[in-house]
Amino acid sequence: MSSADDQKRAAGEAAAQLVEDGMVVGLGTGSTAAWFVKALAARGLKLTCVATSQATADLALSLGLTIAELGETRTIDLTVDGADEIGPGLSLIKGGGAALLREKLVWEASRRSVVIADAAKVVPILGKFALPIEVVAFGHKTIQARICDVLSEFDIGIAPRLRMKDGAPVRTDGGNLIYDAACGRIEEPAALAAALKSLTGVVEHGLFLDLADQALIGGDAGVTVLEP
Ligand code: A5P
Repeated sequence: MSSADDQKRAAGEAAAQLVEDGMVVGLGTGSTAAWFVKALAARGLKLTCVATSQATADLALSLGLTIAELGETRTIDLTVDGADEIGPGLSLIKGGGAALLREKLVWEASRRSVVIADAAKVVPILGKFALPIEVVAFGHKTIQARICDVLSEFDIGIAPRLRMKDGAPVRTDGGNLIYDAACGRIEEPAALAAALKSLTGVVEHGLFLDLADQALIGGDAGVTVLEP
């Protein structure tokens, strides 16, 4: 049986084969996206890349890839990124690596987005992985209370938890905070996404709906292609 890391690597390497010389490529964040970045750099193509986090930009630059800011290139041809959960219709939860805002900005600016993952990420319903919600730091406990109100409207009776690391709140590349909402089951992702987005102080959430054009899933039998 292949390990999750073998599967991530296989998916990342398969995605690197989708890239053609001269493309503008969006680079995702996380361990699976890192395999893609390494495989892409090894191809030696002439590319311009837009990174979804400082960590990915650093990795790409260290491997000799050219990085440009979002908005400073022509339209991104293809973005390849990981996910925390892949549900029906390629609905996704992302943001386990705290890069959800930049990821969504880059995905939305791309002609095509491909999600890469190990087989364990594919689920029948989203929500087992806690949904990351990025909020501004000012008054964040008030924002958390509003998020609780919204969740309870969807019969999700939990309080999202402030993401911490080494005893301090995690800060995103944009300087914001993350609350993780362990929803359990997200029965109405589109409605929940809209309700969260309507809250003042919520910068972004990790529901990526109608954004992925294709998924490449690493598994014991190789890489499987999923369509929405
Ligand atoms: C980063 O914020 C996330 O959206 C990642 O894409 C996601 O957490 C997947 O990470 P791994 O590839 O490390 O599992």
